[in-house]
Amino acid sequence: MTIQVFENEEQVALAGAALIAAELLQDPYTVLGLPTGSTPIGIYRELIRMFENGVISFAEASAFNLDEYIGLDPDHEQSYNYFLHENFINHVNFRAENVRLVQGLAVNANEECEQYEQDITDAGGIDLQLLGIGRNGHIGFNEPAAWFEKTTHVVDLAADTIAANSRFFANEDEVPRQAISMGIGTIMDAEKIVLAATGSSKAEAIRAMCKGRIDPACPASILQIHPNVTILLDPAAAALI
Ligand code: PGA
Repeated sequence: MTIQVFENEEQVALAGAALIAAELLQDPYTVLGLPTGSTPIGIYRELIRMFENGVISFAEASAFNLDEYIGLDPDHEQSYNYFLHENFINHVNFRAENVRLVQGLAVNANEECEQYEQDITDAGGIDLQLLGIGRNGHIGFNEPAAWFEKTTHVVDLAADTIAANSRFFANEDEVPRQAISMGIGTIMDAEKIVLAATGSSKAEAIRAMCKGRIDPACPASILQIHPNVTILLDPAAAALI
């Protein structure tokens, strides 16, 4: 685990974008795993800027996403499909056929999970998985649990996650109770992982991830045994390590 602490959120975003740009320049066919949330927005903004300036291209790259709410239409403003299109995909030059986002409106969610795993395998696996982290140590929607879920699966969201995400909905009752998430095994299969976190609300999760036991009570702690993880933090998120 390589841990880098930057002056501020802006520097974290630039560093995250630089790692992704480096990957794309080295391999234009890079398969990216993309998260939603507030944290990656600055990284996406910088990647869009680099694309507009002709520094990078996504023409040959592929994208998968980390997770999606069950029951939200991909056009729903709070769906993760919508978020990724609005904040990133629509502004760069991915080919539509190279973007595979997990569908929360699939008729059979379990079949969608299986198909999603197969599609990742068929694409040759994820080369670089970008991650945020929840206040409770979740990655994707892999919530604190008694075991690590291996593959893409249906999850019941933790109360803390529903509360944290209610800021995006009219009220807490509107937050979906279930989601589909890449599993911990899916994430661990990525060749490289870049996790970004900023702000004091993430400090305890970062401590548990970096310094705690590897334990599904902090799903991100599994990253300690991934061979190529880079953690990008601001000073507030790094305060307890
Ligand atoms: P955030 O969410 O970037 O909005 O803090 C991260 C997460 O919950 O994984």
